[in-house]
Amino acid sequence: MIPVKTLAGLTGFVTRREGKKFLKLGESVDEKLITPSGLGENTAPSLYIHIPFCRSLCPFCCFNRYLFDEGMARRYFRHLKRELEIYIDKGFKFSDFYFGGGTPTVLMDELTGFIKLLREKFNVKQISLETTPREITPETVAALKNAGINRLSIGVQSFDPVILKSMGRISSTDKETEEILLMAEGQFDTLNVDFVFNFPEQSVKQFEADVAHFKELRIDQATFYPLMASPHKKDAMERKFNRISTSREKEFYDVIIRELYEKGYHASTAWCFSRGERMIDEYIVEDDDYIGIGAGSVSIVGGNFFVNSFALEKYGEYIESGRLPVIGWRRLTEKEHRRYYLLTKLFGMKLDEGDFHRRFQADISRELPLEMLFFRTFGMISGDGQIQVTKKGMYPVSVMMREFFAALNGLREYCIEHQV
Ligand SMILES: C[S@@+](CC[C@H](N)C(=O)[O-])C[C@H]1O[C@@H](n2cnc3c(N)ncnc32)[C@H](O)[C@@H]1O
Ligand code: SF4
Repeated sequence: MIPVKTLAGLTGFVTRREGKKFLKLGESVDEKLITPSGLGENTAPSLYIHIPFCRSLCPFCCFNRYLFDEGMARRYFRHLKRELEIYIDKGFKFSDFYFGGGTPTVLMDELTGFIKLLREKFNVKQISLETTPREITPETVAALKNAGINRLSIGVQSFDPVILKSMGRISSTDKETEEILLMAEGQFDTLNVDFVFNFPEQSVKQFEADVAHFKELRIDQATFYPLMASPHKKDAMERKFNRISTSREKEFYDVIIRELYEKGYHASTAWCFSRGERMIDEYIVEDDDYIGIGAGSVSIVGGNFFVNSFALEKYGEYIESGRLPVIGWRRLTEKEHRRYYLLTKLFGMKLDEGDFHRRFQADISRELPLEMLFFRTFGMISGDGQIQVTKKGMYPVSVMMREFFAALNGLREYCIEHQV
């Protein structure tokens, strides 16, 4: 019997190698490739909207974010609207929207104005939005509710003040965080709380306490992110914290399996656990195609991968010259596209063979025979037609996604460092 950790290591290794291929980008983008033509009705893309400003910058964070400055943020929202208009002019239609960051709530008047614009232009089905606990007040909750946010995600990271301090987060007592969460509880279709696990100074016991506390609050959903550090960030973090290692990661993941998955929480993804069916913010799982707008966003349209400029100045220059701010693109090979599909669906815990066939006009067992054989032989997936990730497969799938993000983080880091 091969241990799950070894299987996870293997799948993770292969995924990182695949992910790195995404980084080999062409520069001169043919904007004609970014078109809704050819995307079928059931492959309508979602729209991801990146708001890259935060009131303070957490040292562990791997996203494209800048210290909040009101003037810069207002200018950015103007640019976002113009970028959206370029997509509208191209004929794109969206109904599912995901605001991420950074901290999308840093300028509530701009945010609600943007949501109003979305409602004027599209038939809005659902909106997900993320923010930090320090942004949550009765006024923000009321304004977000009024704006029709369906899913609110709050990045708690941990309830433990010592861990929060070492994460560089504004330290608050667990009681204070609890009060903040209870302010938002029941106000949205879905309330999600984000946690990070396998942080260098975090013990499994401390994490167990976080999971127990989450359960006591009876909140709908929690997303657990394994700490991800790109090579450069890793060096910087290791100078600040202890050594970053994935050797303990499975012990943390086992807590999630034991305390949530085996206790009736539904695995919406390998990282997201919900009571009942809930909205998730993993548009990469739900939709085969998606457009990302804003600095550092990425898009996948019809097998093409596009990357937006990360630098605010450069992003603004593109927009002001009436162009999409795309700085790199890659046409995925058929194999890469199918493997990417497999990864995202397994991350979402299920793959419908019929959907695969409709998407690629081919059978998955013929297209990805080795991959399917490997997952089946080692009991990581089960079922025919409707393929399910098994409990045994969950940790390897989590590692695959972590490795894929780690590869993308390498791209983010390069772009942020070189202000591309
Ligand atoms: C982009 S952040 C936005 C949420 C919000 N700004 C906050 O910090 O509360 C979304 C989530 O990503 C996770 N995250 C950020 N950096 C990470 C890293 N290096 N490794 C793993 N998860 C990370 C955190 O759990 C965070 O809540
Ligand atoms: S974790 Fe959230 S608040 Fe902290 S820097 Fe990243 S996006 Fe900003």
